Amino acid sequence: MDVFRRNIIAIDGPAGSGKSSAARLLAKKLGYLYLDTGALYRAVGWKALKEGMNLQDEAAVKVWCAKLDLTVKPDGDGMRVYVNDQDVSGEIRTPEVSRAAAAVAVVPAVRRRLLGIQRAIGEKAVAQCGVVVEGRDIGTVVFPDAPVKFFLEASPEVRVKRRHRELEQQGLTVDLSATRREIDTRDLKDASREVAPMKPAADAMRIDSTALTLEGVVSAMGEAIFKKRSEIAD
Ligand code: DC
Repeated sequence: MDVFRRNIIAIDGPAGSGKSSAARLLAKKLGYLYLDTGALYRAVGWKALKEGMNLQDEAAVKVWCAKLDLTVKPDGDGMRVYVNDQDVSGEIRTPEVSRAAAAVAVVPAVRRRLLGIQRAIGEKAVAQCGVVVEGRDIGTVVFPDAPVKFFLEASPEVRVKRRHRELEQQGLTVDLSATRREIDTRDLKDASREVAPMKPAADAMRIDSTALTLEGVVSAMGEAIFKKRSEIAD
């Protein structure tokens, strides 16, 4: 799928919409870097939990998060994330850190700090190979000029099942109703926050992955990229 060298593909959507798997596979097919911005919010949430940060104190959070050293490294088809050189990639996947990530994500100082980091990683990747960036506000705020944007959706039942399977694969035992509550609360928080709420960009292609396989989702994305490329070339 070598059709669109050195560019930015934005993929947004709620938890369980299938965006991470699709973004990883698409990045692999295109030979692009894969950037999971949720992992950055999770890393900040993990650190805030660990240090008992009071997220209501915006001035203190601003100073605190300016000092955080957050880095990412490609790892096979995925990505690893480091906080002050500590690899936290495994620890950030728990339901507790999911809640903390959604909580830090409403703090404007955190979003500003992560905006700079995401853009720096994206710009470096574009100079080298291109990047598939997944998150909640990529097409609307982080890379509003990305030439191709997707917004993934899926039925609530399917999203809960996918998230639950993901947690089981990590060896965590969480019941289905707790997973449903986690997703509902997070969706509400992500979509209703004042700064950069989760929503499809006006020019995003919406894909409902409920009845699609991963290959089906990525092939729909590939077609859209191909079409965009021919429009640009015309
Ligand atoms: O994609 P994820 O479930 O790992 O994201 C965890 C949380 O991070 C999500 O609930 C909201 C926040 N987030 C965000 O606000 N903006 C992004 N671009 C990515 C994630």
